[in-house]
Amino acid sequence: MDIRDRNVLSGDEVLGLNFIKGSGPYLFRRYYRSGLRSLIFEVLSAGDVETETQGEVMDGIRLFPRARPRKMFRILRNRFASKEEVLTEIQKYRVLLNHLGPDLIAASEEFMVDYTLRGKREIVLCGLQEYVEGEILDPWRLSIKEPLKDMFTSLSGTRMEYAAWLKKARENIGRFVDRTRQMIHSSGYIPDLAGIGNLIVMKDAGFKLVDINNIVPLKPDRTILIDDKGYPSCDVSVEVLSILERDVLEIPLLPDDPLYRHFLAPERKKEVRRLETLFYARLTP
Ligand SMILES: Nc1ncnc2c1ncn2[C@@H]1O[C@H](COP(=O)(O)OP(=O)(O)OP(=O)(O)O)[C@@H](O)[C@H]1O
Ligand SMILES: [Mg+2]
Repeated sequence: MDIRDRNVLSGDEVLGLNFIKGSGPYLFRRYYRSGLRSLIFEVLSAGDVETETQGEVMDGIRLFPRARPRKMFRILRNRFASKEEVLTEIQKYRVLLNHLGPDLIAASEEFMVDYTLRGKREIVLCGLQEYVEGEILDPWRLSIKEPLKDMFTSLSGTRMEYAAWLKKARENIGRFVDRTRQMIHSSGYIPDLAGIGNLIVMKDAGFKLVDINNIVPLKPDRTILIDDKGYPSCDVSVEVLSILERDVLEIPLLPDDPLYRHFLAPERKKEVRRLETLFYARLTP
Protein backbone atom coordinates (compact mmCIF):
# COMPACT_ATOMS: atom_id res chain seq x y z
CA MET A 1 0.00 0.00 0.00
CA ASP A 2 1.21 3.47 -0.72
CA ILE A 3 0.73 5.44 2.45
CA ARG A 4 1.60 8.66 0.67
CA ASP A 5 -1.96 9.50 -0.23
CA ARG A 6 -2.79 13.02 -1.36
CA ASN A 7 -2.88 14.35 2.17
CA VAL A 8 0.28 12.81 3.38
CA LEU A 9 3.33 14.51 2.07
CA SER A 10 6.84 13.28 2.22
CA GLY A 11 9.31 15.90 3.30
CA ASP A 12 10.28 17.11 -0.18
CA GLU A 13 6.67 17.57 -1.12
CA VAL A 14 5.86 19.89 1.78
CA LEU A 15 5.15 22.88 -0.41
CA GLY A 16 8.18 21.94 -2.42
CA LEU A 17 10.37 23.02 0.45
CA ASN A 18 13.58 21.21 -0.17
CA PHE A 19 15.06 21.64 3.30
CA ILE A 20 13.08 18.81 4.84
CA LYS A 21 14.50 15.37 4.35
CA GLY A 22 11.90 13.16 2.68
CA SER A 23 13.10 9.82 3.86
CA GLY A 24 12.77 8.53 7.38
CA PRO A 25 10.17 7.28 9.77
CA TYR A 26 8.07 10.50 9.77
CA LEU A 27 5.48 11.90 7.39
CA PHE A 28 4.04 15.39 7.18
CA ARG A 29 0.34 16.03 6.72
CA ARG A 30 -1.36 19.39 6.38
CA TYR A 31 -3.22 20.00 9.64
CA TYR A 32 -6.97 20.33 9.17
CA ARG A 33 -7.08 23.58 11.08
CA SER A 34 -4.87 26.39 10.04
CA GLY A 35 -4.42 30.07 10.62
CA LEU A 36 -3.46 33.17 8.69
CA ARG A 37 0.09 33.39 9.86
CA SER A 38 1.44 29.86 9.74
CA LEU A 39 1.29 26.76 7.62
CA ILE A 40 0.80 23.88 10.02
CA PHE A 41 1.68 20.26 9.44
CA GLU A 42 1.24 17.22 11.63
CA VAL A 43 4.41 15.21 11.99
CA LEU A 44 3.23 11.62 11.96
CA SER A 45 4.97 8.35 12.44
CA ALA A 46 4.79 6.37 9.19
CA GLY A 47 3.73 3.34 11.20
CA ASP A 48 0.77 5.21 12.74
CA VAL A 49 -0.35 6.41 9.30
CA GLU A 50 -0.23 2.86 8.05
CA THR A 51 -2.42 1.69 10.96
CA GLU A 52 -4.79 4.61 10.30
CA THR A 53 -5.14 3.58 6.66
CA GLN A 54 -5.18 -0.21 6.98
CA GLY A 55 -6.83 -0.40 10.37
CA GLU A 56 -6.12 -2.80 13.15
CA VAL A 57 -8.28 -5.57 14.48
CA MET A 58 -9.22 -5.26 18.14
CA ASP A 59 -11.64 -7.71 19.76
CA GLY A 60 -12.61 -8.93 16.33
CA ILE A 61 -13.45 -5.43 15.03
CA ARG A 62 -11.34 -3.53 12.54
CA LEU A 63 -10.64 -0.02 13.82
CA PHE A 64 -8.97 2.87 12.02
CA PRO A 65 -7.38 5.00 14.78
CA ARG A 66 -6.39 8.49 13.72
CA ALA A 67 -2.62 8.90 13.69
CA ARG A 68 -1.79 11.17 16.60
CA PRO A 69 0.75 13.84 15.68
CA ARG A 70 4.12 13.35 17.32
CA LYS A 71 4.84 17.03 16.78
CA MET A 72 3.45 20.01 14.91
CA PHE A 73 5.59 21.59 12.26
CA ARG A 74 4.99 25.27 11.71
CA ILE A 75 6.23 27.44 8.87
CA LEU A 76 5.62 31.12 9.34
CA ARG A 77 4.20 32.60 6.15
CA ASN A 78 6.07 35.86 6.69
CA ARG A 79 9.41 36.01 4.98
CA PHE A 80 12.24 37.85 6.65
CA ALA A 81 14.78 40.11 5.04
CA SER A 82 17.57 39.52 7.53
CA LYS A 83 18.78 37.13 10.18
CA GLU A 84 18.40 39.88 12.78
CA GLU A 85 14.67 40.18 12.05
CA VAL A 86 14.20 36.46 12.65
CA LEU A 87 16.24 36.58 15.83
CA THR A 88 13.98 39.39 17.13
CA GLU A 89 10.98 37.17 16.43
CA ILE A 90 12.59 34.22 18.21
CA GLN A 91 13.53 36.50 21.10
CA LYS A 92 9.82 37.39 21.57
CA TYR A 93 9.04 33.69 21.74
CA ARG A 94 11.75 33.30 24.41
CA VAL A 95 10.09 36.07 26.45
CA LEU A 96 6.80 34.17 26.23
CA LEU A 97 8.42 30.89 27.21
CA ASN A 98 10.28 32.49 30.12
CA HIS A 99 7.09 33.97 31.53
CA LEU A 100 4.53 31.27 30.88
CA GLY A 101 6.71 28.19 30.83
CA PRO A 102 6.23 24.90 28.97
CA ASP A 103 3.25 23.94 31.15
CA LEU A 104 1.18 26.84 29.76
CA ILE A 105 2.34 27.08 26.15
CA ALA A 106 3.02 24.53 23.43
CA ALA A 107 6.80 24.80 23.49
CA SER A 108 8.54 25.01 20.16
CA GLU A 109 12.02 24.52 18.84
CA GLU A 110 12.30 27.50 16.54
CA PHE A 111 14.77 27.52 13.69
CA MET A 112 15.47 29.56 10.60
CA VAL A 113 16.09 28.39 7.09
CA ASP A 114 18.06 30.30 4.52
CA TYR A 115 15.94 29.37 1.55
CA THR A 116 16.56 29.99 -2.12
CA LEU A 117 13.60 29.79 -4.44
CA ARG A 118 14.04 30.51 -8.15
CA GLY A 119 17.24 32.35 -7.46
CA LYS A 120 15.71 34.52 -4.74
CA ARG A 121 17.01 34.15 -1.20
CA GLU A 122 14.67 34.49 1.72
CA ILE A 123 14.68 33.54 5.35
CA VAL A 124 11.94 31.29 6.64
CA LEU A 125 11.10 30.84 10.32
CA CYS A 126 9.97 27.35 11.31
CA GLY A 127 9.13 25.60 14.55
CA LEU A 128 8.86 22.03 15.66
CA GLN A 129 6.22 22.28 18.33
CA GLU A 130 4.61 20.11 20.94
CA TYR A 131 1.21 18.82 19.81
CA VAL A 132 -1.53 19.76 22.25
CA GLU A 133 -4.56 17.50 22.21
CA GLY A 134 -7.74 18.96 23.59
CA GLU A 135 -10.70 21.25 23.02
CA ILE A 136 -10.52 24.83 21.88
CA LEU A 137 -11.55 27.41 24.44
CA ASP A 138 -13.39 30.02 22.42
CA PRO A 139 -13.69 33.04 24.72
CA TRP A 140 -16.56 34.47 22.65
CA ARG A 141 -18.78 31.42 22.96
CA LEU A 142 -18.57 30.50 26.61
CA SER A 143 -21.81 29.62 28.24
CA ILE A 144 -22.46 32.03 31.11
CA LYS A 145 -23.46 29.42 33.68
CA GLU A 146 -20.81 26.76 33.20
CA PRO A 147 -18.16 28.13 30.85
CA LEU A 148 -15.98 24.98 30.76
CA LYS A 149 -18.71 22.32 30.79
CA ASP A 150 -19.02 21.92 27.00
CA MET A 151 -15.28 21.41 26.67
CA PHE A 152 -15.26 18.78 29.39
CA THR A 153 -18.14 16.95 27.69
CA SER A 154 -16.35 16.96 24.33
CA LEU A 155 -13.08 15.66 25.74
CA SER A 156 -13.57 11.96 25.32
CA GLY A 157 -11.90 9.58 27.70
CA THR A 158 -11.37 12.01 30.58
CA ARG A 159 -10.73 9.85 33.61
CA MET A 160 -11.54 12.63 36.07
CA GLU A 161 -14.91 13.59 37.53
CA TYR A 162 -16.22 16.93 36.26
CA ALA A 163 -15.81 18.71 39.64
CA ALA A 164 -12.17 17.64 40.04
CA TRP A 165 -11.38 18.42 36.40
CA LEU A 166 -13.01 21.84 36.68
CA LYS A 167 -11.07 22.72 39.82
CA LYS A 168 -7.79 21.81 38.16
CA ALA A 169 -8.65 23.54 34.88
CA ARG A 170 -9.50 26.73 36.76
CA GLU A 171 -6.23 26.55 38.69
CA ASN A 172 -4.32 26.25 35.43
CA ILE A 173 -6.25 29.08 33.80
CA GLY A 174 -5.63 31.14 36.95
CA ARG A 175 -1.89 30.57 36.60
CA PHE A 176 -2.12 31.41 32.92
CA VAL A 177 -3.80 34.73 33.70
CA ASP A 178 -1.30 35.60 36.46
CA ARG A 179 1.73 34.80 34.34
CA THR A 180 0.37 36.64 31.31
CA ARG A 181 -0.18 39.67 33.52
CA GLN A 182 3.40 39.38 34.78
CA MET A 183 4.63 39.19 31.20
CA ILE A 184 2.65 42.30 30.26
CA HIS A 185 3.99 44.11 33.30
CA SER A 186 7.64 43.26 32.92
CA SER A 187 8.08 42.98 29.14
CA GLY A 188 5.37 45.23 27.69
CA TYR A 189 4.28 42.41 25.36
CA ILE A 190 1.16 40.27 25.19
CA PRO A 191 0.67 37.04 23.22
CA ASP A 192 -2.26 36.73 20.84
CA LEU A 193 -5.06 35.21 22.90
CA ALA A 194 -7.73 36.34 20.47
CA GLY A 195 -7.42 34.00 17.49
CA ILE A 196 -9.84 31.08 17.38
CA GLY A 197 -7.98 27.94 18.37
CA ASN A 198 -5.18 29.73 20.17
CA LEU A 199 -6.17 28.41 23.61
CA ILE A 200 -6.69 24.72 24.30
CA VAL A 201 -8.10 22.92 27.35
CA MET A 202 -6.79 19.40 27.76
CA LYS A 203 -8.09 16.07 28.97
CA ASP A 204 -5.99 16.27 32.15
CA ALA A 205 -7.31 19.83 32.75
CA GLY A 206 -4.12 21.37 31.39
CA PHE A 207 -4.46 24.70 29.60
CA LYS A 208 -2.12 25.85 26.83
CA LEU A 209 -1.59 28.62 24.37
CA VAL A 210 -0.61 27.02 21.05
CA ASP A 211 -0.29 30.10 18.83
CA ILE A 212 3.12 31.31 19.92
CA ASN A 213 4.17 33.47 16.99
CA ASN A 214 2.11 36.60 17.37
CA ILE A 215 3.45 38.47 20.37
CA VAL A 216 2.60 42.14 20.25
CA PRO A 217 3.62 45.24 22.22
CA LEU A 218 1.19 47.11 24.48
CA LYS A 219 1.24 50.87 24.34
CA PRO A 220 -0.03 52.76 27.34
CA ASP A 221 -1.41 55.56 25.16
CA ARG A 222 -4.36 56.21 22.89
CA THR A 223 -2.98 54.38 19.84
CA ILE A 224 -4.69 51.11 19.07
CA LEU A 225 -1.99 48.98 17.54
CA ILE A 226 -2.88 46.65 14.72
CA ASP A 227 -0.72 43.62 14.01
CA ASP A 228 0.94 42.65 10.73
CA LYS A 229 -2.37 41.21 9.48
CA GLY A 230 -4.34 44.36 10.35
CA TYR A 231 -5.99 42.97 13.48
CA PRO A 232 -6.11 44.87 16.81
CA SER A 233 -4.76 41.78 18.57
CA CYS A 234 -3.28 43.62 21.53
CA ASP A 235 -6.59 45.14 22.63
CA VAL A 236 -8.61 42.03 21.86
CA SER A 237 -6.11 39.86 23.75
CA VAL A 238 -6.46 42.07 26.83
CA GLU A 239 -10.21 41.63 26.48
CA VAL A 240 -9.81 37.84 26.30
CA LEU A 241 -7.67 37.97 29.46
CA SER A 242 -10.49 39.83 31.18
CA ILE A 243 -13.03 37.24 29.98
CA LEU A 244 -10.90 34.44 31.44
CA GLU A 245 -10.73 36.31 34.71
CA ARG A 246 -14.34 37.42 34.94
CA ASP A 247 -16.23 34.52 33.34
CA VAL A 248 -14.03 31.48 33.87
CA LEU A 249 -12.35 32.31 37.16
CA GLU A 250 -15.31 34.39 38.36
CA ILE A 251 -13.08 37.13 39.71
CA PRO A 252 -14.88 40.48 39.53
CA LEU A 253 -12.91 42.97 37.45
CA LEU A 254 -11.82 45.90 39.57
CA PRO A 255 -12.69 49.29 38.09
CA ASP A 256 -9.30 50.70 39.10
CA ASP A 257 -7.26 47.90 37.51
CA PRO A 258 -4.89 49.98 35.33
CA LEU A 259 -4.67 47.41 32.52
CA TYR A 260 -8.42 47.03 32.06
CA ARG A 261 -9.20 50.69 32.82
CA HIS A 262 -7.00 51.66 29.91
CA PHE A 263 -7.71 48.94 27.34
CA LEU A 264 -11.35 48.28 28.11
CA ALA A 265 -12.50 51.89 28.25
CA PRO A 266 -15.88 51.99 26.43
CA GLU A 267 -14.84 54.51 23.73
CA ARG A 268 -11.67 52.57 23.01
CA LYS A 269 -13.57 49.28 22.78
CA LYS A 270 -15.91 50.85 20.24
CA GLU A 271 -12.95 51.77 18.06
CA VAL A 272 -11.49 48.25 18.47
CA ARG A 273 -14.81 46.76 17.26
CA ARG A 274 -14.65 49.06 14.22
CA LEU A 275 -11.09 47.91 13.42
CA GLU A 276 -12.16 44.28 13.82
CA THR A 277 -15.05 44.78 11.41
CA LEU A 278 -12.64 46.30 8.91
CA PHE A 279 -10.29 43.35 9.34
CA TYR A 280 -13.06 40.79 8.68
CA ALA A 281 -14.37 42.79 5.72
CA ARG A 282 -10.90 42.65 4.17
CA LEU A 283 -10.73 38.88 4.71
CA THR A 284 -13.90 38.11 2.78
CA PRO A 285 -13.32 38.23 -0.98
N1 LIG B 1 0.83 22.75 18.78
C1 LIG B 1 -0.45 22.63 18.48
N2 LIG B 1 -1.20 21.64 18.97
C2 LIG B 1 -2.52 21.52 18.64
N3 LIG B 1 -3.16 22.35 17.82
C3 LIG B 1 -2.48 23.35 17.28
C4 LIG B 1 -1.08 23.55 17.56
N4 LIG B 1 -0.66 24.63 16.88
C5 LIG B 1 -1.74 25.10 16.22
N5 LIG B 1 -2.83 24.34 16.43
C6 LIG B 1 -4.17 24.56 15.86
O1 LIG B 1 -4.04 24.97 14.51
C7 LIG B 1 -4.86 26.11 14.22
C8 LIG B 1 -4.01 27.26 13.69
O2 LIG B 1 -3.01 27.54 14.63
P1 LIG B 1 -2.45 28.99 14.93
O3 LIG B 1 -3.52 29.84 15.49
O4 LIG B 1 -1.25 28.83 15.76
O5 LIG B 1 -2.08 29.46 13.45
P2 LIG B 1 -1.51 30.82 12.96
O6 LIG B 1 -1.57 30.83 11.47
O7 LIG B 1 -0.16 31.04 13.55
O8 LIG B 1 -2.47 31.82 13.62
P3 LIG B 1 -3.36 33.08 13.35
O9 LIG B 1 -4.10 32.99 12.07
O10 LIG B 1 -4.27 32.99 14.55
O11 LIG B 1 -2.43 34.18 13.44
C9 LIG B 1 -5.59 26.46 15.51
O12 LIG B 1 -6.90 25.97 15.42
C10 LIG B 1 -4.83 25.73 16.59
O13 LIG B 1 -5.71 25.24 17.59
MG1 LIG C 1 -4.22 31.60 15.85
